[in-house]
Amino acid sequence: MSTSAEQSLVDKLVRNDIKEMVAYQSARRGQTGGDFWLNANEAGGNEQLTVSLDNLNRYPDFQPKALVNGYAQYCQLTNEQILATRGADEGIEVLIRTFCESATDSIVICPPTYGMYAISAKGHNANTITVPLTAELQLDLPALNAQQGHCKLVFICSPNNPTGNIINRDDIIACIELFKDSALVVVDEAYIEFCPELSLVDMLATYPNLVILRTLSKAFALAGLRCGFTLANPAVIAMMSKVIAPYPISQPVAEIASAALNATGLKLMQQRVDNTIALRATVIDFLDQQPWVNKRFSSNTNYILFNTELAESLFEFLTSQGVLIRNQSNQLNLANCLRVSIGNKTEISAFIAAVTTFNQQLATKPTLENSSSTSNF
Ligand SMILES: Cc1ncc(COP(=O)(O)O)c(C=O)c1O
Repeated sequence: MSTSAEQSLVDKLVRNDIKEMVAYQSARRGQTGGDFWLNANEAGGNEQLTVSLDNLNRYPDFQPKALVNGYAQYCQLTNEQILATRGADEGIEVLIRTFCESATDSIVICPPTYGMYAISAKGHNANTITVPLTAELQLDLPALNAQQGHCKLVFICSPNNPTGNIINRDDIIACIELFKDSALVVVDEAYIEFCPELSLVDMLATYPNLVILRTLSKAFALAGLRCGFTLANPAVIAMMSKVIAPYPISQPVAEIASAALNATGLKLMQQRVDNTIALRATVIDFLDQQPWVNKRFSSNTNYILFNTELAESLFEFLTSQGVLIRNQSNQLNLANCLRVSIGNKTEISAFIAAVTTFNQQLATKPTLENSSSTSNF
């Protein structure tokens, strides 16, 4: 707790917009405790990892070679097209800091979508223009067209978090065409390993204004490592390299991440993806049997969004049982929507057991059904 003297000094010095800013409520900030963590779209576990602690007296390479080589090989690009970052989140931030003049330039976001684009823009005092997805959760191309010349970066999340759907490839390409002389189109592919055939990485050769964000936090099960990648043409990467911290990737991170990208690591990742997709089918079946689920969104990812008028009471009940999922009800057009991550079998069994108990309680307390507001769907 700060003293009033400390607080008043900070209040005097801090940027006004930061004083007003609401911090991103990440799964590890807003929701604490719990026994089963299905609120951050993490993998349900990882293999034993080892790391050498030699040479920690030395600064690491700016971009560790083995790591960049490994990722370049994984996505069939050259090293000059890759920037390794502290998670995809740092890629978002560095893009905004590199391309947006503070207090002048704007980014475009297409909500409901990942919250960090707007938060990072706010942190840099860049403007955020909102072009909502359509009712079908696809790009509103005419509305995006109207933003030509008014923005520097257009963020598209595909597969989209928190809805789980893919944005149509042709629409993304149409969007890249729209902004080809005026803005970078940043396609966030954090979950692409769950549907790799839908990646736009093949389009990097065609479109200089395409940028792709990737991460090891999801299918590679390394969220705690903080390692992601920005993929773009060498000129974009060179500019970002001026802005990013001088040693973004620590040596232990580089070592573990490089191992995750070798042949064994890639095989393990693929098995993890296959298991997650199988488990996702179980959760889909289970949710589809619940009479109170109004809508279960289709998913190309390791999470499922669903709409229920019981969102609030279910969320609270699950939390009381130690099962943490994510309430997305404050997102545009997602009133009464909850998102559950596909963790491991134990975590999913705990989720199913807790929902089953909730149902039993519901049967004895039917008034619960009227306790929440009506959904948007
Ligand atoms: C769509 C999307 N992009 C980026 C990130 C951030 O990933 P990282 O852990 O690599 O910073 C997340 C994390 O949940 C995400 O859902």
